[in-house]
Amino acid sequence: MSIARCLCLAALALPAISATPAVAADHVVGPMLGKSASAELVAARSSSVYPDGRGLPQGRGDVESGRTVFREKCASCHGPAGEGGPGGHLAGRGPLTGPDADKTVGNYWPFATTLFDFVHRAMPMNAPGSLTVDETYSVTTFVLFLNGVVDGQRTLDALSLPKVRMPNRAGFVWIDAKGQPEP
Ligand code: HEC
Repeated sequence: MSIARCLCLAALALPAISATPAVAADHVVGPMLGKSASAELVAARSSSVYPDGRGLPQGRGDVESGRTVFREKCASCHGPAGEGGPGGHLAGRGPLTGPDADKTVGNYWPFATTLFDFVHRAMPMNAPGSLTVDETYSVTTFVLFLNGVVDGQRTLDALSLPKVRMPNRAGFVWIDAKGQPEP
């Protein structure tokens, strides 16, 4: 007997053996948790930035302004130099193959654009989505500086950020995009 036929028979048999009356799908009541997301909220959260830079907004930021953003909005959880705190470290560890191995932006993350994307949507953890685009470019540039990826004079924007070569860029095996050129 096919599975479809089995299910059909089971459905026919259910009203006869069940004490609960059948409930139409459009009358099912959910757990009454949360509230519907407004169109504005969905639009604000729907940005996606890709490794090649698609989705990056116009704007720019440099290391020095990023230092200020980091001191005011990040250091309480990640330490003044990103070396750690309740939010964990973002910099200051050796290579993943060394004795002090632990993931940071510098020794693990393959794309600088992901750092922008993550920070813009999720950080600071107590006020996600509150950073302006320029603040996000600035603090991204500063975190890259803390990791020795860019120098202290650097300014980054939508064109230059995707070109930053991350130290662990070659440390990943590409298995999910067969036939596609790597970004
Ligand atoms: C209130 C505490 C708090 C503040 C403030 C905060 N963070 Fe975080 N951050 C966290 C926590 C906790 C995590 C770990 C989240 C997780 O693993 O899901 C995290 C994770 C991160 C990560 C990912 C690290 C990794 O390798 O997985 C980055 C990057 C980051 N934060 C950047 C920032 C930046 C930049 C700011 C300031 C704009 C900031 N954070 C402010 C708590 C905070």
